[in-house]
Amino acid sequence: MTTTFITGANKSLGLETARRLVETGHTVLIGARDPERGRAAAGSLGARFVQIDVTDDASAAAGSLGARFVQIDVTDDASVEAAAADVAAHEGMIDVLVNNAGVLGRVGPVEEYTAADVSAVLDVNVIGIVRVTHAFLPLLRKSSNPVIVNVSSGMGSFGLTQDPARIESQYALPLYSASKAAVTMLTAQYAREMKDVKVNAADPGQTATDFTGGLGHSIAAGAESIVTLATIGPDGPTGQFIDRFGNLPW
Ligand SMILES: NC(=O)c1ccc[n+]([C@@H]2O[C@H](COP(=O)([O-])OP(=O)(O)OC[C@H]3O[C@@H](n4cnc5c(N)ncnc54)[C@H](OP(=O)(O)O)[C@@H]3O)[C@@H](O)[C@H]2O)c1
Repeated sequence: MTTTFITGANKSLGLETARRLVETGHTVLIGARDPERGRAAAGSLGARFVQIDVTDDASAAAGSLGARFVQIDVTDDASVEAAAADVAAHEGMIDVLVNNAGVLGRVGPVEEYTAADVSAVLDVNVIGIVRVTHAFLPLLRKSSNPVIVNVSSGMGSFGLTQDPARIESQYALPLYSASKAAVTMLTAQYAREMKDVKVNAADPGQTATDFTGGLGHSIAAGAESIVTLATIGPDGPTGQFIDRFGNLPW
């Protein structure tokens, strides 16, 4: 059985990833900051109870126990620690961590940006990943195939934002883009530093969620690259940055 923890899983890309992973047999822990939204999301995925013989690898691998809500605000040390303690008490370990929670942050004229605006977007998108990874690594390292998926963005890619053929070159989102560039490089450097954990970054591409005000491809298409990286085997890649079509330039 594979146990996967996803932050920001109460809606959009996080929830779709959870749905797809439950379908493939993962037990998914729905990380959400709001209990009502988190419980509703976990409830919407249902609980699929299957008979598992824990002494039989094939039987154990076959069973998903569905989804369970775990409260987590990725900007709050105490909340993140409490979430890890909750998972330690109930599941005892995880195999896959999907750092999906993210915010767009302030947009508009650069001259209006303040230090607080920068801190706010970095706190969720970058420091949140460091905070959650720090708290969950001991649980991940109990897995025989520990995997981290950081949800980044093509908006954080120098290559894509400079390519006139790409939609990423048509937007100016300085704070968000800087935060996602940091996420992608954090991924590459964590992968280099941790030989025992596979760490990769996914770009959903412009996806029609609340985030984009409904612009972009379907949420199912957006979740593809996240699901691909969340389901890699022991021989899977590390330190990669992909979208649903393959590798991306940094
Ligand atoms: N949509 C796109 O076009 C696109 C493209 C590339 C990358 N991405 C990335 O994909 C990820 C998901 O985006 P989305 O489009 O699904 O966005 P979304 O619809 O706005 O969902 C974002 C999720 O993050 C959660 N979240 C925000 N701040 C949080 C915090 N402090 N603690 C815990 N959870 C928090 C939200 O919870 P609440 O419901 O409580 O607010 C929500 O569940 C983000 O990292 C985003 O940058 C999106």
